[in-house]
Amino acid sequence: MLSEVLLVSAPGKVILHGEHAVVHGKVALAVALNLRTFLRLQPHSSGKVDLSLPNIGIKRSWDVARLQLLDTSFLEQGDVTAPTPEQVEKLKEVAGLPDDCAVTKRLAVLTFLYLYLSIFRKQRWTKEDLELINKWAFQGERVIHGNPSGVDNAVSTWGGALRYQQGKIASLKRPPALQILLTNTRVPRSTKALVAGVRNRLLKFPEIVAPLLTSIDAISLECERVLGEMGEAPALEQYHVLEELIDMNQHHLNALGVGHASLDQLCQVTRAHGLHSKLTGAGGGGCGITLLKPGLEQPEVEATKQALTSCGFDCWETSVGAPGVSVHSATSLESRVRQALDGL
Ligand code: PMV
Repeated sequence: MLSEVLLVSAPGKVILHGEHAVVHGKVALAVALNLRTFLRLQPHSSGKVDLSLPNIGIKRSWDVARLQLLDTSFLEQGDVTAPTPEQVEKLKEVAGLPDDCAVTKRLAVLTFLYLYLSIFRKQRWTKEDLELINKWAFQGERVIHGNPSGVDNAVSTWGGALRYQQGKIASLKRPPALQILLTNTRVPRSTKALVAGVRNRLLKFPEIVAPLLTSIDAISLECERVLGEMGEAPALEQYHVLEELIDMNQHHLNALGVGHASLDQLCQVTRAHGLHSKLTGAGGGGCGITLLKPGLEQPEVEATKQALTSCGFDCWETSVGAPGVSVHSATSLESRVRQALDGL
């Protein structure tokens, strides 16, 4: 039982290279961002559990007693299990969301309920606890998009910069502190549908699509090699290699059918400012990343952000290689984070 306020944060993440290919056993490179999501768990005695997700407009409340009436045989501590369709149906009943609730909101609430009912919380996390968190986060991903590769939950749990292939994780020893723009085109998309689309294209044109996946694999490996070199001795030439890799991968992802007009626009706008971008994650809209080279003047960065914002996109300047999921004491939080949490 939670006896005091618990503050937890997890980093945002981006896949540098290897999205989609990773679903087919290829290498992906993923990094945690210095943009974090904070969670405050606060005990109270109303007999209810309240969920507030202000960024997507969710505020819900459930009777704890009602939740306890559920068949919780799947909730044994330490036993990480995939949600079955029956459990998801049961959670839908408990969630009590209106029929016209957007899919993203619905999935967020179902994932919360599944994980809330399943996880025992602690104040300090050992390596074993983090492994457990990673496994549960993977199950959360399964609620959201069915057949995830596991790269997203891994990088959010462990942080830093990871090479991921078929469940095997290797942290990059000394990743360079790359600065990037993360741009959300605000075009909604379904990861599940996009992953299925790539699979269909692979089945339909194996001779054409399999080499694309192999090439993306090689891009990830080359990027890993260059990042390793940059950790030792960064040079502008290496940034140019990273830019070429970004361009090639973006074209491959378009050929896989996961591009979108908004992502083309993002690439064109940043190209006009001499910067290179690619989609990150599932594509079909969603987010893109833009590499910021050292020596770039801040007014140029601001002008690029402004140009992206005037396309209707959201844009953040951030750096990669942030710590993974963390527990915080209230006093260690930045005051703007404390204020935002207090305003909920
Ligand atoms: O956009 P996201 O965060 O759902 O990333 C999806 C990444 C894919 O490679 C397309 C799928 C996966 O599970 O790895």
